[in-house]
Amino acid sequence: MQEYIKIFDTTLRDGEQSPGASMNIEEKIKIALQLEKLGVDVIEAGFAASSPGDFEAINQIAQSLSSASVCSLARALESDIDVAAKAIAPAHHKTIHTFIATSPIHMEFKLKLKPEEVIKKAVNAVKYAKSLCQDVEFSCEDALRSDIGFLKEILPAVIEAGANTLNLPDTVGYRLPHEIGTFIKEIHNFIGDRAILSIHCHNDLGLAVANSIAAIQNGVRQVECTINGLGERAGNTALEEVVMILKTRKDLFLTSTNSALDTHINTKEIYPTSKLVADITGIRPQPNKAIVGKNAFAHESGIHQDGMLKHPQTYEIMRPCDIGIPESNGLILGKHSGKAAFKDKIKSLGFEGISDAELLAAFERFKVLCDSKKEIFDDDIRAILSEETLHIPQIFSLGIIQVSACSSGKYCAAISIYKDENEVSDSALGNGAVDSVLKSIDRISQIQGHLQDYKVESITSGKDALAKVVVKVVFENKSRAIIGHGIDIDTMSATAKAYISALNSYLSMKDLISNNA
Ligand code: KIV
Ligand code: ZN
Repeated sequence: MQEYIKIFDTTLRDGEQSPGASMNIEEKIKIALQLEKLGVDVIEAGFAASSPGDFEAINQIAQSLSSASVCSLARALESDIDVAAKAIAPAHHKTIHTFIATSPIHMEFKLKLKPEEVIKKAVNAVKYAKSLCQDVEFSCEDALRSDIGFLKEILPAVIEAGANTLNLPDTVGYRLPHEIGTFIKEIHNFIGDRAILSIHCHNDLGLAVANSIAAIQNGVRQVECTINGLGERAGNTALEEVVMILKTRKDLFLTSTNSALDTHINTKEIYPTSKLVADITGIRPQPNKAIVGKNAFAHESGIHQDGMLKHPQTYEIMRPCDIGIPESNGLILGKHSGKAAFKDKIKSLGFEGISDAELLAAFERFKVLCDSKKEIFDDDIRAILSEETLHIPQIFSLGIIQVSACSSGKYCAAISIYKDENEVSDSALGNGAVDSVLKSIDRISQIQGHLQDYKVESITSGKDALAKVVVKVVFENKSRAIIGHGIDIDTMSATAKAYISALNSYLSMKDLISNNA
């Protein structure tokens, strides 16, 4: 039996199905590289047959990674499997993940197939996938509401056809931990060592992590999960929670030789990964979220603070540094800091492989920031770096912006934007400052955008904190919303930058997005 827990990350597939979490290709590659650094075993990079954009993202991720296995989801159809195999072809290690529903309700009403027809389709799909790829995972969608007798028919058949991993999803997040435990134990006793058992839980009742842990205790050796628990509806199992449960309670999870049943995760990369995913998707974990929430290590009560000062373990079962929360979060660099100190700081914040051009661009932005902001914090530098290392072609960039209040509640924005070194300016009236800014940009770019979501937050504390704006925009009535980010001391400049970054992102992937209707 496999003596470690394999981590199958589906942030880029199931996680991307979170409302509002769609990402562009550059962002997906950045997350995939960070997931590899985190040490996940398999990265489900998307569902290649679902759109040309997904295909392209998987294909580019396959070209970029070296150690993690790159996986594409595929329905139990030869056409889907062909596209999946093509997308992952450049990867050093690859997996095809094919699935079909096995619960009575899905088979009868969704698939309109008899159980024996489902087995036939599953077997054909796995055989075909195996002819194209050594590693084949088969999922019984809605397994946890399927008849266990039926699973005992379909699972040996797909093993025979070549599946190495059998995934049992609680697709609708319905089960309780003791039920999952009993179910997995019976399947595990039946399958034995013939394949690796995997669990994939949804969080509809807030039990995804507890259910995944119950499954591990009863024989699964792969957990499917996402960073920050992103995912369809209420989300999936949170990777960081499963990993830290195994690490913190290693006394309870043992291999056959009584050593700790661990993962390959470098837990010090958990916090940087969580932050990256939150920055890119604009979906921040709730403050009290376990492990990566803003308050996860904050001790507010006097009694707790007193205990912590006397001995940290009085109230702390994990240390912030275990998950990579940097020790220093105070004032760091200032107006007089030079490039060498800046470079040093970037290194200490964990940014690696920064090119000279990126360093120079980030340093210039840091210097500009020093002119208007008294205290520069680690998070300010992190925010600048995150923007400078996202390689979305800068077709448009912001020049000057002026926003003023007019009579009758209207606002007027006058903006100049650069395109190919040419400065173009225009102005527009709007119902509020944001409306006027976005309308001016639409006039200049001549590309119509519809704002679907707008969020603003401060990166650090203080009246002069940097504002971070995240927008979600549908351009030219296309089927997909694009996310854009902007940071600036001035909220309206950050708004304009975020909208322009969404526009640049849209233009870089326009051909891969289908039209609405
Ligand atoms: O939740 C689910 O059943 C899935 C499968 C496609 C694995 O995401
Ligand atoms: Zn799922």
